[in-house]
Amino acid sequence: MKFFIDTANLDQIREAQDLGVLDGVTTNPSLMAKEGITGTENVLNHYKAICEIVEDNVSAEVISTTYEEIIKEGEELAALNPKIVVKVPMIKDGVKAIKYLSGKGIRTNCTLIFSPGQALLAAKAGASYVSPFLGRLDDISHDGLQLIEDIRTIFDNFGYETQILAASIRSPLHIVNCAKLGADVITSPLAPILGLLKHPLTDTGLAQFLADHEKAAKK
Ligand code: G3P
Repeated sequence: MKFFIDTANLDQIREAQDLGVLDGVTTNPSLMAKEGITGTENVLNHYKAICEIVEDNVSAEVISTTYEEIIKEGEELAALNPKIVVKVPMIKDGVKAIKYLSGKGIRTNCTLIFSPGQALLAAKAGASYVSPFLGRLDDISHDGLQLIEDIRTIFDNFGYETQILAASIRSPLHIVNCAKLGADVITSPLAPILGLLKHPLTDTGLAQFLADHEKAAKK
């Protein structure tokens, strides 16, 4: 399973990259705004800076909502760096644009997926990734993990190569459950990824090993 980090914060991207487990980055306009990145030129430069840190898979989201504009913006984003994956919203013009961009060999990530039918449409259009938002479904008492499971079943039924990129991850347990269900990728903030490290028995076990080593060395 691939690990992407869901942030536009360069320090956090570097920290995850240094850990040696990072396969990519996803951003969205809200995450860019959170880092204070505004204005087209600054946004484009920020994508370039992210591409300098990671090996591949940098999702850059269009802010256009019509077919022609999404295509134009998507081609401009893709031209920034071969690592860019153009992130397109699940709307009618977005699906048409995914079909066009994938036909041109540009990788796409269809975002804001909340139902199996939306994922199926995006896969048929040739999306490289679909991004089901499981945390936001959980937030409104819907079963986000069930969506991941349903999309996995549909894609396996027909052999779609579109990868399931489980997004809106809130906890380490979300990541583990996505792995159990066969999501191809998770994109997560840094904290749930680092949360995977933690177990109290690891901490007490290590403390005991080191204490025993110290005691034996003093004998
Ligand atoms: O980047 C898309 C998605 O991961 C957003 O997550 O936490 O805003 O629901 P969140």
